[in-house]
Amino acid sequence: MANPSLLILPGDGIGPEVMAEVRRAIDWFGAKRGLVFDVSEDLVGGCAYDAHGTPLTDETMAKAQEVDAVLLGAVGGPKYDKLDFSVKPERGLLRLRKEMDLFSNLRPAQCFDALADFSSLKREVVAGLDIMIIRELTSGVYFGEPRGIHKEGNERVGINTQRYTESEIARVARSAFELARKRSNKVCSMEKANVMESGILWRDVVQEVHDAEYPDVELSHMYADAGAMQLTRWPKQFDVIVTDNLFGDLLSDLAAMLTGSLGMLPSASLGLPMANGRPKALYEPVHGSAPDIAGQGKANPIACILSFAMALRYSFDEGANADLLEGAVQTVLADGVRTADLMGPDGGTPVSTTEMGDAILAALDAAA
Ligand code: NAD
Ligand code: IPM
Ligand code: MN
Repeated sequence: MANPSLLILPGDGIGPEVMAEVRRAIDWFGAKRGLVFDVSEDLVGGCAYDAHGTPLTDETMAKAQEVDAVLLGAVGGPKYDKLDFSVKPERGLLRLRKEMDLFSNLRPAQCFDALADFSSLKREVVAGLDIMIIRELTSGVYFGEPRGIHKEGNERVGINTQRYTESEIARVARSAFELARKRSNKVCSMEKANVMESGILWRDVVQEVHDAEYPDVELSHMYADAGAMQLTRWPKQFDVIVTDNLFGDLLSDLAAMLTGSLGMLPSASLGLPMANGRPKALYEPVHGSAPDIAGQGKANPIACILSFAMALRYSFDEGANADLLEGAVQTVLADGVRTADLMGPDGGTPVSTTEMGDAILAALDAAA
């Protein structure tokens, strides 16, 4: 049988720096565990615009549709801020998500014990935290029509439209209930049904899918603003949270800080099953291109490495190898290995991106 295929899109800023460490982990699994991938690499974001005048070429888009999984670093940066909206780096990422139909974005927020004192919240609030935010990723205000900026009389008007169909809500709700059954069997759905019609529909459809297909799962509903408050007050009350595209974007950055650093959070964006049974999938860290630290060897590669672990689990059914990689990350953190973003108030000497990669490979060697 052919090796599973991976398309790597390092992107901009710290993207290539963190992805270099992922490639070493991929090579390690090939050499030491016989898990060999056919890896190809291509451009997305600002670097693709520099080379081709577009943040994602049709050729790269077609490749992404063909491979078993895509790994992406990050896109964007100040160099591209003035570009026309249609060719901004972020449009490349949004096109991938939309055309691959990656409607279910899994964003876990897990507080590793060794980092419980690094969160901006108290240790007892975050220690042992393990929640999963499922963000709808291909619809809502990110893609709704009409949109744009136009003139009305003497002034400009900016328009975006929040729009959800019943089937879009139902399919992401199903993915939340399915995942909940493998975890603590508990889902909290967040919207603003008090002020938005799309929120009313969201709440109704999630409830209907629950009652018809998942009555065994505990379901609650919360307004998203109250949800943000509850996530900082007592996050451990949650297990799976399901929410729309925009609220999910905000709530997952918020959840990142519960774990100590945005440099820790991986994500999986999943679509429908392909002919080989694997879901269409793209894996990427939640963080961006971090222009403030790009090119300095300071970036934390863990979010990107844990995104590869999610690929092992969700695309390749390699749960034991995913556990091994996640365990290696846990070991280096417990050993006190820290990139600069994980420095606590008591200081210490941070390691570089590559040194963090070295430590994770050494922990893999020790564990295998
Ligand atoms: P950002 O996530 O890039 O950075 C926010 C802060 O977190 C910065 O101080 C940064 O140094 C820090 N940080 C992020 N990742 C880190 C890591 N791995 N290690 C250590 N520190 C890390 O968000 P931003 O500054 O709002 O956005 C910068 C650019 O990235 C923008 O162009 C934005 O559109 C883009 N962006 C891209 C993605 C993506 O590609 N998926 C996600 C978010 C933002
Ligand atoms: C994310 C990012 C993206 C989003 C941008 C870069 C398009 O913030 O993945 O969280 O808003 O979805
Ligand atoms: Mn975001």
